[in-house]
Amino acid sequence: MEEDDFERSALTKEKKPTGWTNQHVLALTLVVVACVATICTTLTFFLHPDYAGIDGVNPFEPAPTEASVEERINCIPDKDVENAEELCSDRGCVWRPTIVDGAPWCFFPTGHGTYRLVKEEEHTWGTRLTLERETYIASFFNQDIQTLSLDIEFQSQTRLHFKFYDASESRFEVPIPLLPRPAEAARVTDYTITYTTRPFTLEITRKSTGEVLWDTSIGALIFEDQFLSISTRLPSSNLYGFGESEHRSFRHDMNWRTWGLFARDQPPGDAINLYSVHPFYMNVEYDGNTHGVLLFNLNAQDFTVQPTPALTYRTVGGVLDFYMFLGPTPDQVIQQYTELIGRPMLPAYWALGYHLSRYGYDNLTNLQDVVAGMREYDIPHDAQYSDIDYMDHNLDFTLDEENFGGLGEFVESLKPDGTRYIIMLAS
Ligand SMILES: *[C@@H]1O[C@H](CO)[C@@H](O)[C@H](O)[C@H]1NC(C)=O
Repeated sequence: MEEDDFERSALTKEKKPTGWTNQHVLALTLVVVACVATICTTLTFFLHPDYAGIDGVNPFEPAPTEASVEERINCIPDKDVENAEELCSDRGCVWRPTIVDGAPWCFFPTGHGTYRLVKEEEHTWGTRLTLERETYIASFFNQDIQTLSLDIEFQSQTRLHFKFYDASESRFEVPIPLLPRPAEAARVTDYTITYTTRPFTLEITRKSTGEVLWDTSIGALIFEDQFLSISTRLPSSNLYGFGESEHRSFRHDMNWRTWGLFARDQPPGDAINLYSVHPFYMNVEYDGNTHGVLLFNLNAQDFTVQPTPALTYRTVGGVLDFYMFLGPTPDQVIQQYTELIGRPMLPAYWALGYHLSRYGYDNLTNLQDVVAGMREYDIPHDAQYSDIDYMDHNLDFTLDEENFGGLGEFVESLKPDGTRYIIMLAS
């Protein structure tokens, strides 16, 4: 029997008593098909991940709670972007405006797994993992390194080294020798490492308390030729370090702040890098235990802190080379850190005293007046400086005889008081 015949006979049986004709049935079928199609299209449209809804609110998703806004990792850290919403969807991210000040409107969807774990190798020094980029995950710049190695070295009881790098080609690494990799992994460690396979995420835990010190499951791992980024949850908001820039307090403001680390000798100013770069932080866990982390990378970079609390690193080159120091006291963290990078030199005692310096004394008379004023008001004064304006045309090893003639004699005259003198040199 043909399908048509079957339908007709079935309908004839069932529908005849109600007096329905084939035309009625056809019309009804069309209406039903149209309704189903409309519902499907509507659902597909609204439930599509790119759908942002009216005013960015998707009626099918619960409004994000404050907690979930805090979890957002910014997917458009770029400055001054046009068509941000379009860029957001190109990057496979979620666009959802929020009234929370500083929180990103475009963020990675949860479980945005850019890499999966494909291989684990045990070595005497630790573990080497091989990570493979998921090709279906959108890229920022289409320069992704397909295969990454992650070496996890158990360097000592309190020092952990983990480095993400290109598995096949060597990349720029900081050409400063640190302590070499110990041949044998430490037998006893204060930390444990766990990871998930797909997506690949890494967790580092302090053994004695179970405190999770690093957890990269919050955000995407990006390893492109000129854009590298990794995010981690932090155990507490007690974050210190990351010199060198002006802050209101030593403890970081975790309210969605981004800081550049790219020293270029610019004068102090709000939220800008000063003279040096120290990609090292210390985190005081809520129970007082403390750990430190160094990112050993000297490409231009920035980092973002947010109230989760969480931290995102971004850099434009090199590799993601981390050292973690387990302390557990703050001074032990610094001891462990300087054991790796080298101890600072012990400065002369007077160098720890009171120093007076400025650019723009203009001439020797002003300088003499300033020093006389320090004496007159009995202000401690261990060292006096001349900035580069004492020079002739800012040239090293010269003196502006017109405005600073007699500087040498003046410096000699301060020596009997024990006042040291520093003349700046600049390159
Ligand atoms: C030194 O500079 C000040 C301006 O800072 C000027 O008023 C003064 O005349 C100068 N003195 C000499 C001796 O050049």
